[in-house]
Amino acid sequence: MTDSVVMTEMNYSPDRPKAANPVKIQDLSLRDGHQSLFATRGRTEDMIPVAEMMDEIGFWAVETWGGATFDTMHRFLNEDPWERLRTLKRYFRKTPFSMLLRAQNLVGYRNYADDVARAFVDRAVANGMDIFRTFDALNDYRNFETVVDQIKKNGKHFQGCMCYSMTEPRMGGEVYQLDYYVGKARELEAMGADSICIKDMAGLIAPYDAYQLVKTLKAAVKPPIHLHSHFTSGMAQMSQLKAIEAGVDILDTCMTPYAFRTSHPAIEPLVMALLGTSRDTGFDIRKLANINEVLEKQILPKYKHLLDDSKISVIDINVLLHQTPGGMLSNLVNQLREMDALDKIDDVYKQLPRVRKELGQVPLVTPTSQIVGVQTVNNVLYDTPEERYQMITAQVKDLCYGLYGKTAIPIDPDVQKKALKGYPRGEEPITCRPAEVLEPELEKARKDIGELAADTDDLLTYALFPVTGKKFLEWKYGRAEAPASVKPITLEQVRKTDALVKKAKAGELVEKKTDAPAKSERLRTFNVFVDDEYFSVEVDPTGEVPAVVVPVAAPASAPRAVATAPAPVAAPKAAAVTAPAADVGGTKLAAPMPGLIIRYLKNVGDQVAKGEAVVVLEAMKMENSLTAPCDGVIKAIGFKSGDTVAKGAALCVIG
Ligand code: CO
Repeated sequence: MTDSVVMTEMNYSPDRPKAANPVKIQDLSLRDGHQSLFATRGRTEDMIPVAEMMDEIGFWAVETWGGATFDTMHRFLNEDPWERLRTLKRYFRKTPFSMLLRAQNLVGYRNYADDVARAFVDRAVANGMDIFRTFDALNDYRNFETVVDQIKKNGKHFQGCMCYSMTEPRMGGEVYQLDYYVGKARELEAMGADSICIKDMAGLIAPYDAYQLVKTLKAAVKPPIHLHSHFTSGMAQMSQLKAIEAGVDILDTCMTPYAFRTSHPAIEPLVMALLGTSRDTGFDIRKLANINEVLEKQILPKYKHLLDDSKISVIDINVLLHQTPGGMLSNLVNQLREMDALDKIDDVYKQLPRVRKELGQVPLVTPTSQIVGVQTVNNVLYDTPEERYQMITAQVKDLCYGLYGKTAIPIDPDVQKKALKGYPRGEEPITCRPAEVLEPELEKARKDIGELAADTDDLLTYALFPVTGKKFLEWKYGRAEAPASVKPITLEQVRKTDALVKKAKAGELVEKKTDAPAKSERLRTFNVFVDDEYFSVEVDPTGEVPAVVVPVAAPASAPRAVATAPAPVAAPKAAAVTAPAADVGGTKLAAPMPGLIIRYLKNVGDQVAKGEAVVVLEAMKMENSLTAPCDGVIKAIGFKSGDTVAKGAALCVIG
């Protein structure tokens, strides 16, 4: 086998002789492709039209499952995730299936108990899964142990991932240098990895680093090396080519309509780039073009409304500047905007490396990117010169306890101590495999869901997603009607909308509706100012009027000024409340950020000490325990679990 790429004979016909060492290709269109570009909304019915054609290409594997597909399908598409595997398997008769498995997190967002993990792998295999691409956000392979054992018991392919992460503009630095990755690859080889994947989820790997890394790994370990690199920063195609020159075995690509932006390089240019070389894929470019034709005309129009067209650039230069995933950066901006603190973004960028280091220099991938990002914002907004980490999220506490696994470097001892003060599981962090502290879950789930789960697949859907999984099973078995929002849209609907938009843009949309509904008493008038121009707009809400909490001054007698009023008109940010437990005398605990009340830990009349946790507020999917600003008795509580509150809302009064 030759590493270097050499030109062979100039025979480019589809039935040309096989290259000496063809690059193997995994197609990601049906999983990471639509996950990256279309919020994972791809429906099975839109995969079937190209399935048999894709089966003819000669892909090493097609990725069909995992990541967010399981979640999105049952929650937003009213589709049974297990059924998708069985259905697609009828069309893909030759090409193996692969899935992305979040190790002990399976396809969810927390560590599940071992009994759930084993049952999940068994059922994935039974429904048609062949290759398990397994990763852990901390690269802590103890989180692999249970699932890998089960994958092997089923005789299936275990692909071990190392999450590619950086702290410097190029590979190197204190943690993520060549030795780190070689060490990880050796661990994976020792675990029996059938292949090893460099999982560059943020598109950070630079071409010459890819070359050096692949070259070194090829010499250090036996399993085939697979490169997964998102296009986000614009480097992926160059990195792929350098990886090929270094001898990479397998690459990930998408069909063109599912490629680029935050997704992956397209397959078609790669096929042409390698044509007539010793690494020629052997693929027939005309067959690929036929697939694209179907996707472009019959399928993707249904999804284009989901494409993020807020930016003209197809790449994210910030990723190159901050070595941080693009999705994480946009989350930070959104979070700051929500708190009216967008002017602090540079402080956040500056603090991010410090907070990440204090939290153990973790790779930045879901969920660790969110954990580090939100904590950094909290620090920038709430820390004082005297005291840092004023507000620590529940997830940072879990990380400090060891619930996610072992961090790349030890967590800063002061931060860890502060985070674990009063932590319910204990103030002493664990060092064992995290799932060891979890009780079996399957039997309890079986009892809870009862006969609504007809088989083990249903039971697992419920065990993984108790709230939305149960709702889905109710739709599936006709116990409840699925809402219109989960139904697919048709090509016909898309054409109608397009025609309307075209007409409107051309200024031809002048016909006035003569059967306009009468204006109701809920009508509100808004003045909209655009530079010097001003428009008066009348807004009349239709349908059910939800009960809302209105930010009115509370009467002195009522601690909870909650009113139901028929005026939830599109007043921006009016849904959240600021002044509830108002006029009760005492010290107010004010919401430091807008968010959702998860629960109160104290009741009216309870004695609290300064610094004691009183209420848990969720913001940006992270839970924050808010503590009493002084000693005293809770005199009033402003809200209840599930309420949305604005920044500054008086959550309770202590006196
Ligand atoms: Co990916």
